[in-house]
Amino acid sequence: MKKQLHGALFAAALLMTHLVAAGETAQPEVSTAEGPISIINLNDLEKEAARVLPRGAFGYVQGGAEDEVTMDANATSFNRVQIIPNGLTGLESVSMQTRFLGVDLPSPVILAPMAAHGLVHRDADKATIRGTQKAGTIMAISTYSSVPIKDTVESAPGAPFLFQIYMSRDDGFNRHVLEQATAAGARAIVITVDSGAPGNREADARNNYNYSMHTPIVMDYYDGENVTQTQARASRKVGFTGDDIRTVKQITGLPVLVKGILSPEAAVLAVNAGADGIWVSNHGGRQMDAAPAAFDMLPLIAKAVGKRVPIVFDSGIRRGSHVFKALASGADIVALGRPALYGLALGGSEGVADVFRHLNGELNTVMILAGTPDVEAVKRAKLFDPEKREIIDRSATPPAAQRVVTSYATPVVICE
Ligand code: FNR
Ligand code: LAC
Repeated sequence: MKKQLHGALFAAALLMTHLVAAGETAQPEVSTAEGPISIINLNDLEKEAARVLPRGAFGYVQGGAEDEVTMDANATSFNRVQIIPNGLTGLESVSMQTRFLGVDLPSPVILAPMAAHGLVHRDADKATIRGTQKAGTIMAISTYSSVPIKDTVESAPGAPFLFQIYMSRDDGFNRHVLEQATAAGARAIVITVDSGAPGNREADARNNYNYSMHTPIVMDYYDGENVTQTQARASRKVGFTGDDIRTVKQITGLPVLVKGILSPEAAVLAVNAGADGIWVSNHGGRQMDAAPAAFDMLPLIAKAVGKRVPIVFDSGIRRGSHVFKALASGADIVALGRPALYGLALGGSEGVADVFRHLNGELNTVMILAGTPDVEAVKRAKLFDPEKREIIDRSATPPAAQRVVTSYATPVVICE
């Protein structure tokens, strides 16, 4: 049910990262590109997107919090472990196929929920979902997406999607959007719990750029009410507990994934409250700039979860080798963030599909070179730690997340 006027519930002034277009006068033309894009690697897409996007929009998408230490750590963390080639397995080809939430996927890569699709392309989330459909993968629709859920879903009939909720302090809002997402056919709900306070994104401040909170999914609930940006921001839920997970499950009857988990304790709390999946993420370094790289925390969280529920991982994935390393460190599925928006800006739905195809191509190469025939083999793969000069098992096998299998100097036999 939509809200029946009057915003008395807007008590606290929670300032949000997403912001009003205060500094930008006329909205610069937004991309209408549609067609295949040429990709050397996903990092390069950032520079190409910078050339076609308005400064404010690009800064909002690309930027991280404060000094961007966490965002940079996401990128470099993958380099601290290496994949061991093995050409003596007799392997002729590999299969990247996997299954997640009842969906058969060509590879273990899905799309992370993101606001702002409409900032980078006229067709916004509608083009994105056509892109994920072409790539055979799953889109996650954000509460702050640029078009109503229904429009996104109708633009790619049958395409699997998740719905990500930024919960409100207003239970009516939560119920309204969750019922819409359920009716539209969401496979699962993602509750994001790492954004109780705004990330301090200095690129936005420098560009005097604000992402409007008046997004269609939010405003649909207020049904014509004159809700200010401040009110809309203030309504956002700050503190989460296990009860929120139970509530969302009860309203929707859908699996619930909890996104923004960076500690083993939080993961255990979520699983004990009934979470059906843990989404390890530091929001691409956009929230707390003192947070560790998500990849560094992944094995510890995987160990705590102990395979009770699947683990999704994002933050910094740019290479097929990153996908491999994440799977070998306890993830079941990996999600892609910013590069998909760059693909959208550069080539619309085809651009999005090409980004996934390119990443899958890199993963395919790495899997052949590593002698890992399928996703399960990747998850069991051991990695090399060049600092310690040890082969390590970062996957979730108890009793320890980082069992030493052999050391460079002295082989060590590990008893299970
Ligand atoms: C995000 N992210 C995000 N997460 C979420 O749960 N809800 C959201 O609405 C958004 N919005 C959003 C907008 C933009 C522009 C970006 C770049 C990111 C975070 C996203 O889901 C994911 O965690 C990160 O993008 C992963 O990091 P990389 O791969 O982009 O470095
Ligand atoms: C962001 C919000 C929308 O990262 O999650 O900008």
